[in-house]
Amino acid sequence: MAKTEIAHRKKVRRRVGKKSNKTLFDKYELYRKAVQSAENDVQFIQNTFKELKGKNAKSFREDFCGTFALSTEWIKLNPRHEAIGIDLDPEPMAYGKQNYLTKLKPDQQRRMRLIEGNVLDPNLPKADIVAAMNFSYFCFKQRDLIKRYFANVYKTLNKDGIFLVDIFGGSQCFDAIEDEIKHEGFTYYWDQTNFDPVTNEALFHIHFKVGGKKIEQVFTYDWRLWTIPELREIMTEVGFKKVHVFWEGTAKDGSGDGNFTRVDHGESCQSWIAYIVGEK
Ligand SMILES: C[S@@+](CC[C@H](N)C(=O)[O-])C[C@H]1O[C@@H](n2cnc3c(N)ncnc32)[C@H](O)[C@@H]1O
Repeated sequence: MAKTEIAHRKKVRRRVGKKSNKTLFDKYELYRKAVQSAENDVQFIQNTFKELKGKNAKSFREDFCGTFALSTEWIKLNPRHEAIGIDLDPEPMAYGKQNYLTKLKPDQQRRMRLIEGNVLDPNLPKADIVAAMNFSYFCFKQRDLIKRYFANVYKTLNKDGIFLVDIFGGSQCFDAIEDEIKHEGFTYYWDQTNFDPVTNEALFHIHFKVGGKKIEQVFTYDWRLWTIPELREIMTEVGFKKVHVFWEGTAKDGSGDGNFTRVDHGESCQSWIAYIVGEK
């Protein structure tokens, strides 16, 4: 059963803005429309903290933040909320500043902090919640390195904090496939060029077709495909006292229904997305 057609693409339920008709090619806008679901993600993150800790979180740190879409949505959720975005690359951050930050009210902008830096930096600001979304931590291919990252998150979480990552898997991840999804005004392609069963490494590309022209390899991801048990073990080793898995429910047509609940066991399917949540 295919729970989602392709794991990297989260459910996209937003309306397509009018701006796309005017803009021929804005790679971050297309990425946001095709791949991200920031509004849903922050709602899930907020609810999960409440469910696990019985109180509301205030500060949210978005590691590997790119255009910091999640941080922006976190700020909008509540006037008490504060967000910190961290990324190595100034380009997506500049895009976010120009396109998302400027749309926030002055009070909201003051509650946002952006750091061009490394998520492995031991002096990162602390937060109630740290999230690494869209599988960005898959760039850490060695166990020692991902363990160092998880240990750094543990150290820089507030007492009672939670760490949240998303993960995908399923038999389809081992195939070289190109998945094509039509959106209003453009087509999105998720291209898995290979999978190496010896190293569990895989190379992915995102292509877009806009105005009849296909633009190849707009984004490329060179990842190790980690598994849920590996990540749970590493989180436990660095000190997280409980590590939960939130698994997506299944709609009547066999696709994911967008509702994630805590489970001890999953079900085998071609393609799935889950969240792993560590409690400090
Ligand atoms: C797949 S993108 C994800 C962006 C964003 N989280 C999202 O959901 O769209 C991965 C991002 O991680 C950043 N990155 C990679 N290694 C990093 C590191 N060690 N520290 C901080 N950012 C890093 C890259 O610059 C890139 O913007």
